[in-house]
Amino acid sequence: VEVELDERYADSFDIGAAVEPSMLEGKDADVLKRHFNSIVAENVMKPINIQPEEGKFTFEEADKIVQFAKENDMELRFHNLVWHSQVPEWFFLDEEGNKMVDETDPKQRERNKKLLLKRLETHIKTIVKRYKNDVDSWDVVNEVIDEYAPNAEGLRESPWYQITGKEYIKVAFKTANRYAAKDAKLYINDYNTEVQPKRDYLYALVKELVEEGVPVDGVGHQGHIQIAWPSLPEIEDSINMFADLGLDNQITELDVSLYGWPPRPAYPDYEDIPASEFERQAERYDQLFELYESLGDKISSVTFWGVADNHTWLNDRAEQYNDGVGVDAPFVFDNEYNVKLAYWAIID
Ligand code: XIL
Repeated sequence: VEVELDERYADSFDIGAAVEPSMLEGKDADVLKRHFNSIVAENVMKPINIQPEEGKFTFEEADKIVQFAKENDMELRFHNLVWHSQVPEWFFLDEEGNKMVDETDPKQRERNKKLLLKRLETHIKTIVKRYKNDVDSWDVVNEVIDEYAPNAEGLRESPWYQITGKEYIKVAFKTANRYAAKDAKLYINDYNTEVQPKRDYLYALVKELVEEGVPVDGVGHQGHIQIAWPSLPEIEDSINMFADLGLDNQITELDVSLYGWPPRPAYPDYEDIPASEFERQAERYDQLFELYESLGDKISSVTFWGVADNHTWLNDRAEQYNDGVGVDAPFVFDNEYNVKLAYWAIID
């Protein structure tokens, strides 16, 4: 019998999926309603889609997801308030239309910083007030660590950082906290949170935030992982470290790619993927969920970055690295919404 995923893990954590509004009908919706008790927008709540022009907020698509969560009594994660990617250019232009990052005059730089932080506050305030009663977990900042950044703290040198330093991170959390529901949780979200040296850069930043009283509730571990990487002990250590700081952990964008990085060679079509790959993947899922479960209340939610193998951002990547052909198969439902070996692995 196909046990519902969210039922299976009801004592441990929520089971979520990233969705596009088009997935709220038909087969995706059926699987969502049956197996998931949490959702997040794959794209439509990102800054570029919510405020494409200054002062012009577009909530229609986001509202559909909020509505679906309500109707089906699901938890809702908001992804994301601040990111360096999928953010419109206008945020970083001064009143004259010049790029703020190019400014050399110290006085004008100071004015630019003020203006950018004001825009940030307006963006966050408008969204958080609107969805205050709907959102349970907010990804307040996304991917602010970059282990290759040319600074000692591993802070990503995005325009946000170049113009405000790390103030934008603190202002973002404080603003979100001011308007969010009291029981909503605020997350700092990133990828490769298990892997050194990135993990320690993230840890140092989060520790600083906690010590300064910046209202961060938890760490979102994206979890874009592979069959053999990162190792289980690395995953476990990372969760434990942040839990020891008194913070919650969520797995926010889980997918288990069949490939290493870069994903070459990729299988051209889904039908080309041999059974042995699905067996290896099921073993990985088995170990992973056993670990998550063993970590008890240190993890409150596990969200997949999609529903079934027919729709995954990893296909774009597989294609990109394989001259336009290549598919991945990262989930526990196959490209026709049937349960995979990986599903049975995490049910048993
Ligand atoms: C991805 C979406 O899945 C794609 O559809 C989009 O083209 C690019 O963004 N880390 C994140 C997510 O935090 O927002 C990204 O989502 C995947 C990597």
